Amino acid sequence: MELLNNNAELQAWRRQFSPEETVGLIPTMGALHKAHATLFDTARPECDQVVASVFINPLQFERTDDLKAYPRTMEQDLAMLENLKVDAVYLPTPDDMYPSGFATSVDPGDSAVQFEGAARPGHFAGVLTVVLKLFQRCRPTTAYFGQKDAQQLFLVQRMTRDLDLPLTVQACPTLREDDGLAFSSRNARLSKVARQQALVLHQALTAAVAEFQAGDRDPRKLEATMRTFFEDSPAVLAYADVIDEVTFQSAQTSSTSRGHAWRALIAARLEGVHLLDNLLLGNP
Ligand code: PAJ
Repeated sequence: MELLNNNAELQAWRRQFSPEETVGLIPTMGALHKAHATLFDTARPECDQVVASVFINPLQFERTDDLKAYPRTMEQDLAMLENLKVDAVYLPTPDDMYPSGFATSVDPGDSAVQFEGAARPGHFAGVLTVVLKLFQRCRPTTAYFGQKDAQQLFLVQRMTRDLDLPLTVQACPTLREDDGLAFSSRNARLSKVARQQALVLHQALTAAVAEFQAGDRDPRKLEATMRTFFEDSPAVLAYADVIDEVTFQSAQTSSTSRGHAWRALIAARLEGVHLLDNLLLGNP
């Protein structure tokens, strides 16, 4: 496995491959866990070359204490990537990614100010800017993103389409613990008690799925069902929304969403930790 410490090293690595060879990119911020591993397991058999990036992107943190608190486990990350048969790891420094004078950023448009973007102004502009730079530098044929971060995935897919980026963005399913909790590097910050209480997110989502499957097509009623799970829970709900997957806007009626699937989104705060999850409802 090659370690590429700056853009020059990355370019020297990338130049070896002909246009016929497929290159898979998996962008990460490190602190890798089992769910990240599934993205590499998907990419490995599909691509001639697999490159990971590990970069805690300062542009997507609006608070410096959040940025400082982000877990850093580089040695374990590299051991895991080696085991996953990754060919190369790009490990840029902030200066390599954003040399002095850097000023341009991607405007993610309207859907970036809702849900995860509502409490974090600039977050998705920071995400899309680094993702676009990683796409330009790594020139992947396919880039892999988790469905767990549904809004991020949507915005990356839309940027790729809107800006004619010559690659495929592949969505990978959310990996969960046996009891339903979605894997996240933030789970490690929960106490044992809160770890159990965090199941409320998945419980609320599965209740919405059950109601949808039973025939309910009123998105506001499905949202109300999800909210009831938080009435007696220490988890503080940030949002519980049913969205149209194609527009990433609040779902209205089955006829206005014709041909578009609905997805239930949820986010809540427990012991100061922001947790998020989502599940596909289906075609209304
Ligand atoms: P990070 O949080 O490290 O996540 C890297 C990738 O792993 C993302 O595509 C994310 O959706 C995926 N992932 C995380 N938990 C998952 C789970 N339980 N199941 C499936 N996939 C999961 O997301 C970022 O980094 C950054 O915003 C980044 C895209 C790297 C830009 O800085």
